Amino acid sequence: MRRIAVLTSGGDAPGMNAAIRAVVRSADARGVDVYGVRKGYQGLIDGEVSHLSARSVSGILHLGGTVLGSARCDAFRTPEGRALAVKRLQLHKIEALVVIGGDGSFRGADALSVESDIAVVGIPGTIDNDISGCDFTLGFDTAVNTALDAIDRIRDTAASHQRAFFIEVMGRSSGWIALFSAIAGGATEVLLPEQPTDIEALQTRINDAFDMGKQYCLVVVAEGHELGGAFAVAAACGETITGNHRVTALGHIQRGGPPSMRDRMLAARLGDAAVTALLDGQNRVMVGEVDREVVRTPLERSWSVVDPMPQDLLDLMDRLAR
Ligand code: F6P
Repeated sequence: MRRIAVLTSGGDAPGMNAAIRAVVRSADARGVDVYGVRKGYQGLIDGEVSHLSARSVSGILHLGGTVLGSARCDAFRTPEGRALAVKRLQLHKIEALVVIGGDGSFRGADALSVESDIAVVGIPGTIDNDISGCDFTLGFDTAVNTALDAIDRIRDTAASHQRAFFIEVMGRSSGWIALFSAIAGGATEVLLPEQPTDIEALQTRINDAFDMGKQYCLVVVAEGHELGGAFAVAAACGETITGNHRVTALGHIQRGGPPSMRDRMLAARLGDAAVTALLDGQNRVMVGEVDREVVRTPLERSWSVVDPMPQDLLDLMDRLAR
């Protein structure tokens, strides 16, 4: 294999740049040329493809976002759109594509590979951590740390005013960011999309927390929660909870900022592993870390299998929140 391309697709995630760098440097070390595609699949269709030298990826390791840009591209969902993308790759004599993104991006990559002779390898890159075949996705660790920084600040003011706070975190329809930031942030309650919520029990739990002498009460709400987020949950709790309460939706700050050490290490390993997989003749696989080992998983698993929330962590949350 002489020439490959790399793109980032879907929601950006901290660590994507470190992964781009790792792909380029690892390929360069093995005599493989890398082309960067700007703006995800849309840029591929539009022909925004240019050579990336080992030097051109200097100084991006620590940057959040993605220097290649990203997009959610409807045209790529059609065979016609993908055919255009294949033509662009063939024009540059590119034999394989590394896609850094989430399950939607992997669906597109898989279809492209089935319809052409372009090999594809995926690197899981999304703050949501909702991809099967890896312990953690790129960006998840940083996003949780960012949420924690905000939660720690909210605790200061919540304690000063003896308030309950409903804090909404991202994650689309998955509760990974919520569960991890709730445990690590010392929340009283976490509301996940994966579990039904009993509002009366929640009200009681909040009131009991104050009755037991807590000076504040933090409720972390996943944005994909059945009621529709933290504002809706706060409204459902109404005036029945002790004292006054406030709501904060953390929003896109969770997506930005420099990647954590864990995300940089993951990016380095997976970028390198993606190139190795291609050189080994692999196709339609995702590289991910499981129990500190890099493993290859069929791309299809990333969207067809939903890993359950770890029961031990749900139980831990319950035990520590009293
Ligand atoms: O998938 C990453 C993510 O940040 C989700 O957590 C969130 O639901 C979504 O993207 C937001 O998408 P957008 O940036 O298009 O509003």
